[in-house]
Amino acid sequence: MAEIKIREILMECRDGVMLIHIHRPDRKNALTLSMYTALTAALESAAGDPEVRVAVLTGSGDSFTSGNDIADFLAAPPTGEDSPVFRFLAALRQFEKPLIAAVNGIAVGIGVTLLLHCDLVYVRAGAMLQLPFVNLGLCPEAASSLLLPRLIGYPRAAELLLLGEPFSAEQALDWGLINALGADADATLEQALATARRLARQPAAAVRLTKALLKRSEAEAVRETLALEGRHFKERLRSPEAIAALQAFAGRRRSGA
Ligand code: COA
Repeated sequence: MAEIKIREILMECRDGVMLIHIHRPDRKNALTLSMYTALTAALESAAGDPEVRVAVLTGSGDSFTSGNDIADFLAAPPTGEDSPVFRFLAALRQFEKPLIAAVNGIAVGIGVTLLLHCDLVYVRAGAMLQLPFVNLGLCPEAASSLLLPRLIGYPRAAELLLLGEPFSAEQALDWGLINALGADADATLEQALATARRLARQPAAAVRLTKALLKRSEAEAVRETLALEGRHFKERLRSPEAIAALQAFAGRRRSGA
């Protein structure tokens, strides 16, 4: 495995816990191609290292991640299964050790859908979450069209995915989308790390088996849905609807509006 190290993805291992930090705060931790590749390498490294029992994912500044970098969507959209974003989603799906998210702030797009693959999710109170795929002329990804309605019910999932409006960490907790709220970003990360350290002391093989059993009933459907959504997502990115919406966001930046 080629390990790619870039300054926007930081890794630190202590007490059996690998902390993976998304660090691009000036862009709300928007994920570029190289960041997806580094995140994939981080997950593969955590998976292959027997010292690592649990992985924790968090972000820098006021955001967890604002999702895919919009400029990258326009300049270098994913083309196939080997594209960095799809490789990252595959690594997420295949990660056999517990994965905990410490959502320190804003989470948009894949910043929310990746949570559906985590085992435990802690979110800073008051944080804003959003699934604006349709608003951008896109469609759900990361198997969210399957996992979200299963988790929170069809009516709520339809509202979040079709209208794409922001929702709060408090609503997410009320709907059973996340485990708990942290008072602030530091408390949220500390809560995630404390749980991770407890999990790291549990018998490792039993933990992995239990995760596999918990995921088993939906594993095949998740794999199929990832592939189907991926095909549509690539097509949607080339659609006039999506190009206009993405250019509008990029133009807003240039004009400083
Ligand atoms: N891709 C590229 N740049 C992004 C970005 C993204 N996903 N999210 C934020 N940024 C940039 C902004 O363009 C801005 O750049 P600038 O300082 O050069 O103008 C900077 O990060 C700060 O963002 P800003 O929009 O000023 O912060 P905010 O607090 O007002 O709003 C968000 C934060 C996340 C709500 C808003 O930036 C947003 O909606 N981003 C797009 C999210 C998105 O649609 N992602 C794709 C999902 S599929």
